[in-house]
Amino acid sequence: MELTRAQLWVELNDIAHPHDRPLPAEWQPYYWALFQLARRLAPRRIVEIGVRAGYSAFTMLRACPEARLLGIEGDLDERRENTHGGRRGMVQHAVKILHGSAAQILIVNSHDIRALPICDLVYVDGDHTGEGCLADLRLATAASPRVLVDDYCSIDSVREACRAFLVDNAAWRADFVENSLTGFLLLTRDEYAVSHVESMAAEPDIHQCCERKAI
Ligand SMILES: C[S@@+](CC[C@H](N)C(=O)[O-])C[C@H]1O[C@@H](n2cnc3c(N)ncnc32)[C@H](O)[C@@H]1O
Repeated sequence: MELTRAQLWVELNDIAHPHDRPLPAEWQPYYWALFQLARRLAPRRIVEIGVRAGYSAFTMLRACPEARLLGIEGDLDERRENTHGGRRGMVQHAVKILHGSAAQILIVNSHDIRALPICDLVYVDGDHTGEGCLADLRLATAASPRVLVDDYCSIDSVREACRAFLVDNAAWRADFVENSLTGFLLLTRDEYAVSHVESMAAEPDIHQCCERKAI
């Protein structure tokens, strides 16, 4: 039977780290949008950059039970690094809740990796600085024909990194995906461009993003 939005939310709250409980209500549409998109794209091999406590990894694997996931998490110190949501040790929770699933977590800084394994989808939610995000986009697009970027609306430097990437990489198209919180940008290499991803705008609606951000 199809998992509902309410059921996913119950599951996420069940597996959440005590520090995060109860999960903020505004995260519900966000993870539901991720679930629906992952289900539609149906990747078999997923790489995630920026795992934190494992909620997005859990959500994508819940949407794609046949998939394998490799998580890259730097476990950085939020007092010294721009981790946006990072808190040292949270990755141990991800390892715990993903134990027994087809997920493997590597505790490593993405900027120390020369190449990611070839895969069907990379989810980029790690370094949110402009330079760091751009480096992650280059790493991700070398490995996968589809790259989903989080925080396209909520973090200016992420949006700027996406734009800089698209200026230099004409073979990639971008589709904005509403998630009611941070805004996703789905980058797709031309030959993989999909027409069945109905809920996407052809062009990212920056005005809408910026208006919502200002609220
Ligand atoms: C916003 S959190 C990820 C949240 C997670 N995707 C979710 O929704 O459940 C960002 C994470 O990226 C990690 N991070 C930041 N820079 C990184 C880097 N260069 N390499 C690997 N992980 C990084 C941080 O430590 C933090 O845990």
